[in-house]
Amino acid sequence: MSETVSPTSASTSQEAAIVAALGKRSVVLVGMMGAGKSTIGRRMALRLGLPFIDADNEIEAAAGMSIPDIFEVHGEPHFRDGEARVIARLLEGGPILLATGGGAFMREDTRARIRDKAISMWLKADADVILRRVRRRADRPLLKTADPAAVIARLIDARHPVYEQTDITIDSRDVPHEKIVDESIIALHEYIFRPRAASAISEPTGDPLSPIR
Ligand code: S3P
Repeated sequence: MSETVSPTSASTSQEAAIVAALGKRSVVLVGMMGAGKSTIGRRMALRLGLPFIDADNEIEAAAGMSIPDIFEVHGEPHFRDGEARVIARLLEGGPILLATGGGAFMREDTRARIRDKAISMWLKADADVILRRVRRRADRPLLKTADPAAVIARLIDARHPVYEQTDITIDSRDVPHEKIVDESIIALHEYIFRPRAASAISEPTGDPLSPIR
């Protein structure tokens, strides 16, 4: 059940620079169901030459059952605890490209770990895009309801203000995947190599253009 895309080498100097600057830090994709975390994450991982890991798949592998079954048999709180544990473990093994489930970033302890061990990227999609995409699959327990649109709207209200705490936001919309991947790589590079105030850099003689940590 666990899915890891085999790494290739980083394909351009921009990608190689990102990977070199990451060190052991990972890139974590955050966002609502249907925002494209797995689709975009898999392609970004190939471009960067990093292993791609989908946290949902890892949770299923660790539990030996599907996510709908975990919700049904053990309930959502049990799923959330397992999700937090699995993400904590995965972040210890960086650098990876990690796609998280839509609810994972809502936990303060998970957000703190991601801040510590990774660069986070929110794939921001609007309700229409999400609804259209989630209708293609029936394996999301939170959407097994008479009115999935209302659930999506409620989750967006609750989650978007928290997703805003990520390091980078990408507008995930219906354009070719490679376009979103290109924008994500550029944004990641810009974030890592952004000019920063000298006081934000730990080395006293640090170059303001050098990558963080
Ligand atoms: C959830 C999203 C799902 C999965 C579970 C709960 C959520 O992952 O973790 O069904 O709370 O939004 P995706 O975001 O990958 O669909």
